[in-house]
Amino acid sequence: MSHVFISHSAKDFDALLELHEALRAESIPDWYVPNDGGSRDLADQSIDDAFAMIILVSASSVRSKSVRKDVERAKARGLKLIPYQIDKARLNGFFKHEVQPHLRYSSTMPDGMDKLVAETKAAYKRKCPVMAVMNLKGGVGKTTVSSQVFGAWQGSLGGRILLIDLDPQYNLTQTFFEMDIADASAAADKSVISLFERSRIHARDASSPAESWLTLSIEPFAPAPRDTLMHDLMGEGSPGGRLDLISGQFEISKYAFATDGGALARIKQHFLQTVERYRSEYDLIVFDTNPNATFLTRCALEAADRVLAPMHADVYSLRGVRLLNQVINEQIEPEKRPDLSILFNAVSRSEQSSFEAEARNGTYDGKAGFALSKVLLKAALPRSGHLQVKAPQEDQPAWKQLVIHSGRGGGLKPIRESLKAIALELKTLVEA
Ligand SMILES: Nc1ncnc2c1ncn2[C@@H]1O[C@H](COP(=O)(O)OP(=O)(O)OP(=O)(O)O)[C@@H](O)[C@H]1O
Ligand SMILES: [Mg+2]
Repeated sequence: MSHVFISHSAKDFDALLELHEALRAESIPDWYVPNDGGSRDLADQSIDDAFAMIILVSASSVRSKSVRKDVERAKARGLKLIPYQIDKARLNGFFKHEVQPHLRYSSTMPDGMDKLVAETKAAYKRKCPVMAVMNLKGGVGKTTVSSQVFGAWQGSLGGRILLIDLDPQYNLTQTFFEMDIADASAAADKSVISLFERSRIHARDASSPAESWLTLSIEPFAPAPRDTLMHDLMGEGSPGGRLDLISGQFEISKYAFATDGGALARIKQHFLQTVERYRSEYDLIVFDTNPNATFLTRCALEAADRVLAPMHADVYSLRGVRLLNQVINEQIEPEKRPDLSILFNAVSRSEQSSFEAEARNGTYDGKAGFALSKVLLKAALPRSGHLQVKAPQEDQPAWKQLVIHSGRGGGLKPIRESLKAIALELKTLVEA
């Protein structure tokens, strides 16, 4: 479960307890370094897992090295800061710069504590957006965008991100892991199939849903905890934070062949409920999807708040997004219908093509059957060798596959800037 991290000086124990009680009364989970001191690693881990950080601002905390480290970590992770001033401390340079811009509540305000708790509760309740990277046309860059754009989002804007490989081809999983690792994971049901059916990661005595294509298990199950289902892509040696993956596997193709509509409806419900549960532990959930309309497409569309469709700047891609928009509007009920954003992928870095310029000024809105020009992201992803799929190297950690972290090299800087610009534009959209 996620929590609010309370950064404080050990000297402010009374204020800490008072705050802890107030949060508890509103059922908001919190975490703070215990009085006997905790390791820096444990604090960092807990900050990475938190949904926000409350900073008790006091004469002693402004001088505390560990509070400063907490705030630096939070800033690097893009964590929401909610400072609360508990005495007349004079802020030093670091606090003036990093904390004061967020400082709105103090214990001298008549209802300072209530407001602090209310803002924390709003942050706790804020629903983590779910985004499906989708296009009914193949090879337009869905998997590249799922890994590189959202990897760059985590690396530059922070937040706890969960990638889910919903494509039976599981290219996203293969981006990060060698084939044998991906397959071993699937063989243990530590994969996407465990979002749909009860499997061996839910109960030792369960049978694997991957074993039989003819039976669908409609038995309910509790969503598996993070350490049994998710792969932590920001593992050893990484810059930190949370980027997790639920790996894919071919056997989820079985749903495309199933004929029992009632069972499929139940299985879709399992998927939707499980994703809903994971929303409380992440700040963003992203699906990489298959390039055709199947049961999995419907599941992704019903769970998603937004569809991000990569497209190439050509007429074939235009058809792909026309179809996609049709599927969204004809197949999904209005209240479940996700918003659509479209991203030009593999564009020339030096000049905008006439196709892109015309698409942006509305020339193709008629052909697309909807206002394409209005949903196009301003940022586009250039064609670049750095974005071409490379097989993961043995002994290389998963996060090294991300362009945002993949070292130095000619031409990397502009690509990273493009990835960050796309992430920032998307973040602004989903938070609007
Ligand atoms: N901006 C880019 N620059 C260079 N190569 C790219 C770019 N985007 C994608 N590619 C390459 O194009 C190919 C297809 O990309 P990708 O696998 O991401 O597409 P996809 O839409 O996920 O495909 P599928 O429909 O099979 O799932 C890959 O080889 C990838 O490396
Ligand atoms: Mg793909």
